[in-house]
Amino acid sequence: MNRVKKRETPLSRMPARLDLAQSVSGLILGLFMWTHLLLVSSILLGKEAMHFVSKVMEMSFLSPSGEGYPVIVSLVGITISALFIVHAALAMRKFPSNWKQAATFREHMAMMRHPDTSHWWRQVITGFVMFFLGSVHLYVIITHPAEIGPFASSDRVYGFMWPLYLILLFAVEVHAAIGMYRLAVKWGVFDGADPRQSRKRLQIVERGLTMFFLSLGVASLIAYMKIGYEHREHAGEPYVSTEEASR
Ligand code: HEM
Repeated sequence: MNRVKKRETPLSRMPARLDLAQSVSGLILGLFMWTHLLLVSSILLGKEAMHFVSKVMEMSFLSPSGEGYPVIVSLVGITISALFIVHAALAMRKFPSNWKQAATFREHMAMMRHPDTSHWWRQVITGFVMFFLGSVHLYVIITHPAEIGPFASSDRVYGFMWPLYLILLFAVEVHAAIGMYRLAVKWGVFDGADPRQSRKRLQIVERGLTMFFLSLGVASLIAYMKIGYEHREHAGEPYVSTEEASR
């Protein structure tokens, strides 16, 4: 009799769970990064606008003195760092584990010339850049949460952070937009009747978002540099809003 042999090791759901965890952590980080840049770019509306945003983030409206609670910024920074580490660790499962595997992957990539395969490689490179440079930025923010504002931020950008931000900005925006595109393709979000057509449309959205956030980031960096340059003789002095000055 022809008997079907029973599997000895049951199929594990772990890889699927880890994939889901990677998608969810990536989604949260991607949305955080876009929101973060929209908040940071408030400097384009002027010093008062950026001061207002930084005070709201510190929940100054809840403190009687109006000073706010910078510790909230540190706590958000710690949470984002933790998520960052989890997301990177989950991504590392799929990295080539030796030079030979990496070389084979690059050969396949060159041969196939498929945008989604090249995307994955770009994610590896930009992910690496973000992990190192993002950690430096997060450490500064977590340890100096009260030093965020039109003058404090501009002094920092102009003083020493601008080269790091410039590289980090490109890595973040390319990584976030590709990540969101891959999430949409993987989980079939926005899938229409013709998957090829929806993929093409998603690629256009991905490029559009990358260009939009890159332009916003570069414009904001220029604004911080300009304020930092003008404020260089008084670097370290905090910004006092019109409302605070009239108290
Ligand atoms: C709670 C977490 C975070 C906070 C509170 C925060 C806050 C800020 C602030 C206030 C600035 C303006 C410049 C300054 O003050 O130094 C800034 C700029 C920037 N941050 Fe963050 N950040 C956080 C997390 C991240 C992460 C995780 C990344 C990327 C891995 C990142 C990437 C950047 C970049 C690229 C800029 C320059 C933006 C531009 O072009 O103007 N930030 N951040």
